[in-house]
Amino acid sequence: MNLTNVNSPIKLENGVEIPCVGYGTFRTDPAVTARAVQDAIEAGYRHIDTARIYENEEGVGEGIRVSGVPREKLFVTSKLWNTDRGYEETKAAFQASLERLGLDYLDLYLIHWPANEKQFGDRAAQINADSWRAMEELYEAGRIRAIGLSNFMPHHVKKLMETARIKPMVDQIEVHPGWPHTDEIIKLQDMGILVEAWGPLGGQGSVVLQNPTMKKIAEAHGKSTAQVSLRWIIQQGVLPLPKSVHVERIRQNMDLFDFELSDDEMKEISSLSGLGGQCADPDDVDF
Ligand SMILES: NC(=O)c1ccc[n+]([C@@H]2O[C@H](COP(=O)([O-])OP(=O)(O)OC[C@H]3O[C@@H](n4cnc5c(N)ncnc54)[C@H](OP(=O)(O)O)[C@@H]3O)[C@@H](O)[C@H]2O)c1
Repeated sequence: MNLTNVNSPIKLENGVEIPCVGYGTFRTDPAVTARAVQDAIEAGYRHIDTARIYENEEGVGEGIRVSGVPREKLFVTSKLWNTDRGYEETKAAFQASLERLGLDYLDLYLIHWPANEKQFGDRAAQINADSWRAMEELYEAGRIRAIGLSNFMPHHVKKLMETARIKPMVDQIEVHPGWPHTDEIIKLQDMGILVEAWGPLGGQGSVVLQNPTMKKIAEAHGKSTAQVSLRWIIQQGVLPLPKSVHVERIRQNMDLFDFELSDDEMKEISSLSGLGGQCADPDDVDF
C-alpha cells in the first residue's frame, strides 16, 4: 500500500475506494458540528465518519454543503444504532439518517454494535442477520456504496457469515496503543475486511498521548504523540478516524506521511497496552 496523503485510496473488496484517513465526529457538539466538518474539509479531509447516535448528522450534512466540495468527491459513513436493529427497522433508520444528512446515498453504512448474547440470548445472531439482510438489500439497490460492521469481533463476523450473502467490507473497532486489538486486526484483515480504528488517539482525556514511550518516539521523529499513534495505526494497514474540533489539531492529524516508524518502534508501541481508552467488550456491553 503506497499511502502518501490523507486521501490516498484504499480499495475495498468490492472495488470502492476509501480515503485512508477519516475525520471523526463522536462527541462533537451538534452546535459546532457544521463548522468543524467544514474546517476538516477545508483542511483536506474527504472522508467523514458520523453515526445516528452522535446526534450531529444534520450538522455533518450542513458542513458538507457549505464546504462547496461536490458530494461525489466525499466519502460519508453513518451507522445503525442499537435501538434500530432488525430488518424493517434498519431500512427505516438508514432512510432517516440520509434525511438528517440531506444526502441521497451513503458511501458506507455500518451496524454500530453487534446484538450480544448477554442482552438477547440465543436471539442475538438472528437480530444481527436480520439487520444485515436489510443492509445487503440497500447496497444492492445502490443506496450505499459499501456496507460493513463496527465493534464486531472476528467471532461475531464468522457467525454473521453463516447467513450473509454479501461479506462485510469494513469493520470499525477500537484501536489505539492502549487497546491495540492486534490479533483481531490480523484475523479481520485475513478475511479481506478493511479495519478502521475508532478512538485512534485513545479517545477524550486520553493518557495514550501522555505516555513517556510515546513521547520519546514522537521526539525522535519531530512529531506529536497523536501523530505517532495515527502513524502506528496506518502502518498496520488500518484506517484511523481522528476527531478534533480544533483546526490546528485537525491539520496535525493529517500530517502523517513524511515519517515512518521502525519495526522496533511499532513493537514497542504495540506492547504498551493498558493505557485506557473505552476498552468496551462488545459481548459485555449493555447498551
Ligand atoms: N464505532 C464506534 O463504536 C465508535 C466509537 C467511538 C468513536 N468512533 C468514531 O471514531 C472517531 C474517533 O474516536 P474518538 O472521537 O472517540 O477519539 P479520538 O479521535 O481518539 O480522540 C479524540 C480526542 O482527542 C483530542 N485530540 C484530537 N486531536 C488531538 C491532537 N492532535 N492532540 C491532542 N489531542 C487531540 C480531541 O479533542 P478536541 O476535539 O478538543 O481537539 C478529543 O478529545 C469518532 O469521532 C467517531 O467518528 C466510533
